[in-house]
Amino acid sequence: MATKEKAGEELVPIFIMGKRYEVPSSLTIQKALEYAGYQLVRGCGCRGGICGACGTVYRFPESYKIEVGLACQTMVQPNMYLTQIPFFPATKTVYDIEKIKPTIETLMKAYPELLRCLQCNTCTKSCPMDIEVMDYMAAAMRGDVTRLAELSFDCVMCGLCTSRCPAEICQYNIAILGRRLYAKYVAEKAEHLASMVKMVDTGRYESMLKELMNTDEETLKKLYTAREVEPEQADEYWTPKDKTYL
Ligand code: SF4
Ligand code: SF4
Ligand code: FES
Repeated sequence: MATKEKAGEELVPIFIMGKRYEVPSSLTIQKALEYAGYQLVRGCGCRGGICGACGTVYRFPESYKIEVGLACQTMVQPNMYLTQIPFFPATKTVYDIEKIKPTIETLMKAYPELLRCLQCNTCTKSCPMDIEVMDYMAAAMRGDVTRLAELSFDCVMCGLCTSRCPAEICQYNIAILGRRLYAKYVAEKAEHLASMVKMVDTGRYESMLKELMNTDEETLKKLYTAREVEPEQADEYWTPKDKTYL
């Protein structure tokens, strides 16, 4: 039988690194790991599908297919055999963004293995964010920095694409180079950001920061709890009531 009940809660069998556990069916993989007694010291960050720290692979008996997901977002399913791969070794080139240009030469020099891409689409099928990874790799091969940045915008750098690539390419580091080049040299500059940076440079926030650094912990906690938070559905013109530092 695939499932059992415990105190009114449906339990499903899952296998963590080969060992069988029964966990409530309402849990994500991440919560099921903790329910089973694992303490998540690594491979766990935001718990909200943003940081990419919790890349996980799993399989079901009788299926040839390797499934992938973020442990904090994927619900457990009966007979899941799973293991987390929170860090996957990947090539990472060091560059000075001030000294490079948004060209195909920059991408090829930083990641010459780019040309090994077979266009097999395994990376796209491995991506928990439903990103067209193969398509952004094609854009990178064409030197199309804008398309590379646009297509890879939602990448959380989980590394699952890299773990599956037969050409041993690190797609997500190529993509972030593309987004950096795009932001630095191609995208229109945001005026509000430039004016805010200018205010920081002119020392507008120095006294406030000094004041906070001299504030005791309890007062800091109260200030943090009482702070005005931007509502989730706020429109683009939202500003806080207290405009002292705007
Ligand atoms: S998995 Fe590797 S070889 Fe296949 S399309 Fe993606 S980047 Fe190219
Ligand atoms: S593109 Fe790769 S690293 Fe980025 S989210 Fe998708 S699988 Fe993860
Ligand atoms: S813990 Fe951050 S994406 Fe899962």
